[in-house]
Amino acid sequence: MTARRPIVAGNWKMHGTFSSAASLTKEVMENLPKTQADGPQTVVCAPFPHLLTVGQLSAGSDLHLGAQDCSDKVQGAYTGDVSATMLMDIGCSHVIVGHSERRSLHGETSALVAAKAAAAQAVGLIPIICVGETEAQYRAGSSRAVVEQHLSESLPSGATALNTVIAYEPVWAIGTGLTPSLEEIAAIHRAIRDTLGALGADMRILYGGSVKPDNAAAILALDDVDGALVGGASLKASEFIAIVQAAHNRV
Ligand code: PGA
Repeated sequence: MTARRPIVAGNWKMHGTFSSAASLTKEVMENLPKTQADGPQTVVCAPFPHLLTVGQLSAGSDLHLGAQDCSDKVQGAYTGDVSATMLMDIGCSHVIVGHSERRSLHGETSALVAAKAAAAQAVGLIPIICVGETEAQYRAGSSRAVVEQHLSESLPSGATALNTVIAYEPVWAIGTGLTPSLEEIAAIHRAIRDTLGALGADMRILYGGSVKPDNAAAILALDDVDGALVGGASLKASEFIAIVQAAHNRV
C-alpha cells in the first residue's frame, strides 16, 4: 500500500441558495470526523456564488474548498468564465474538470479538459480530472478503451501524483442509483493505474457515481479506490458525513 491520501469530495452541482449553502456547510463542519495527518481529506465543491460562503465558514478547518470548473485561460475577455487564479485567491484547493455533465452538455473535449487541468496546476490548484464511459459504451464492452482514451487526452503533460487527482465516473452511474459491481470498479481502477504507468502507483483515483452511505464502505475498501466523488448524497450533511466516516473507517 502506498501513501495515497484518500479524498472524499462532494459535488453540489447547481444546487442551493446562499442560506442553504451556509447551513449545509455548518452541519458538515459540526459532524466532520477529526482528520489525522495522513487521514482522508474532505472537499466540498460548491457552485461559484457559494464558494466564499463555504470558504469563510470552513476557514482553518479540515474542510477543503473546491470548485466545479475553471477556465483554461489565465485572464481576459472571457465573459462568464472563472479563472483558476480567482479560485485560488478565494481559498480553493481543488477544482473538478471534465465532469461528464460538462463534457456532454457543454461539448468539452478532452483537449480542453487537459488545458483546464494545466491552468489549475499552474496556480497550485489540484484538478480532479473526471473520466468515464457512457451506458452505450459500457454495454458495448468498451469502458476500458474509453477510459484509457480519456486519460491519454485529458491529463496535461505536467501531471504528477501530487498535483492531480483522477475521478472514474461511469456516466450511467451518475445520479441513477446504479453502480458497477465491486469487481468492475476494482478492475477499472486497476486498469487506470496500469495505464498511468510510472504515475500510477501514487495517483489518487476516486470513484464517483451513486456513492451513498450504504455502498460507500464496500467501494472505499477496494485497494485501488482512493476516495469518492459524491453528487446527490453530498447535499445532505448526514449522508455526506456517513460517506466521509466510511473513508475514515477504512483500514
Ligand atoms: P451522484 O453524482 O453521486 O449523484 O451520482 C456524482 C457526480 O456527478 O460527481
